[in-house]
Amino acid sequence: MSGIGIEGGCCLTGEMEIQGSKNAVLPVLAASILHSGVTVFTHVPDIADVRASLEILELLGARTEFREHFVRIDATGIIPREIPKALGEKMRSSVLFLGPLLARFREGILYRPGGCAIGKRPVDYHLAGLSRIGAELEEESGRIRASANHLAGGTVMLPYPSVGATEQLLLAACGADGPTQILGAAREPEIVTLCRYLKMAGAEITGEGSSEIVIRGFQPVRREIRFRIPGDRIAAGSYLAAAAVTKGRLYIKGIHPNHLWASICGFRSMGCELRLEPEGILLSAPERLTALPFLSTDPYPAFPTDMQSAFLSMMAVAAGTSVMKENVFEKRLAMAAELNRMGADIRVDGNQAFCTGVERLHGTTVYGTDLRSGAGLIAAALAADGITTVEGFEYVERGYENMIELLQTLGARVWRITE
Ligand code: UD1
Repeated sequence: MSGIGIEGGCCLTGEMEIQGSKNAVLPVLAASILHSGVTVFTHVPDIADVRASLEILELLGARTEFREHFVRIDATGIIPREIPKALGEKMRSSVLFLGPLLARFREGILYRPGGCAIGKRPVDYHLAGLSRIGAELEEESGRIRASANHLAGGTVMLPYPSVGATEQLLLAACGADGPTQILGAAREPEIVTLCRYLKMAGAEITGEGSSEIVIRGFQPVRREIRFRIPGDRIAAGSYLAAAAVTKGRLYIKGIHPNHLWASICGFRSMGCELRLEPEGILLSAPERLTALPFLSTDPYPAFPTDMQSAFLSMMAVAAGTSVMKENVFEKRLAMAAELNRMGADIRVDGNQAFCTGVERLHGTTVYGTDLRSGAGLIAAALAADGITTVEGFEYVERGYENMIELLQTLGARVWRITE
């Protein structure tokens, strides 16, 4: 286990360029299977899940290269091997390899991803959707085999706008003989990014970014594809929150404010000033944040569950009482107990947190159970009195590239603790 040591009391100030998006890169890496040729991705974040995805692609027979945010994949020689349990378990998104394997080879075999600290994370919508478009599914002891003699396509009505299930269906539908209509689709910017890649690879898709997406067909292109990974909206929001909580002033380049709209409204309601540019955001924090009477997480374009921890840290020190309601992942408020150990006053009742802001938090040892709660605790620790150790830093590093060096350049006193 690794940790991060933080001496609080800094004021996060400066300018930074945001890393490539974790949630956008993982589905397009899986999608590269559909392109029997070379894809070059740029602005790729150097994080563990990207390395795990490349490992899976190599195992399937692709040739890959990764250096300085540049990934080259030659997927010509891929064969539909089973993705072993140990590799699949490294990362939840491994389940997304099922769709493109099914589309290209009519067969994919992998293991059900486990639950994680933020909740159960089932894949029933993925599997029901694949079966709806003509796949046959067999499952034994967590080993899932999806196959199809004939992938027909059809209409899938998702019971919830699941990001992963929408991606899975988009990927699989590229191999269907007829059109596929996804109703109740997720509308996240990462879905639009995936569709942009699929179109470059030869797919005919309409409706991405709305709740009704239609995949009409797929004519694989023969040329090399070059694709830039967009900036990470959640990482950008996390750093802005760290600036907000430390009374800082931070300019982030490489992010579309539209993709962060609900968070921007939240920052403004809590007293921050924001200057928005087509591809940048400048946040100036007030002397003290003001409470937000009610904020709840929901699918895009509503306030994202991935920003919930960052805002809870802000609420912990804001003047007044705030309420945060978590509607997406059942265990994501667990971080409140850690903030309380730093002196916060948060009461959790079911999926709601009632938070009375305190003037100061104090340093202690806390534990981040997933990457977003870890990042939220780091923001809180930057503003706290004394020294805090945030354990579970290995989770944070799954999504935030070079966080320690980056925070140091913005004026934070932080260091790595390895056991
Ligand atoms: C993705 C993001 C994650 C983000 C989440 C919600 C990636 C790699 N991860 O996760 O950062 O927090 O979207 O914005 O992109 N559900 C089911 N059955 C399913 C699938 C989902 O019940 O088959 C439920 C989940 O338990 C959860 C809700 O649907 O309660 C949303 O999950 P989903 O949108 O699928 O999240 P992920 O794609 O896993």
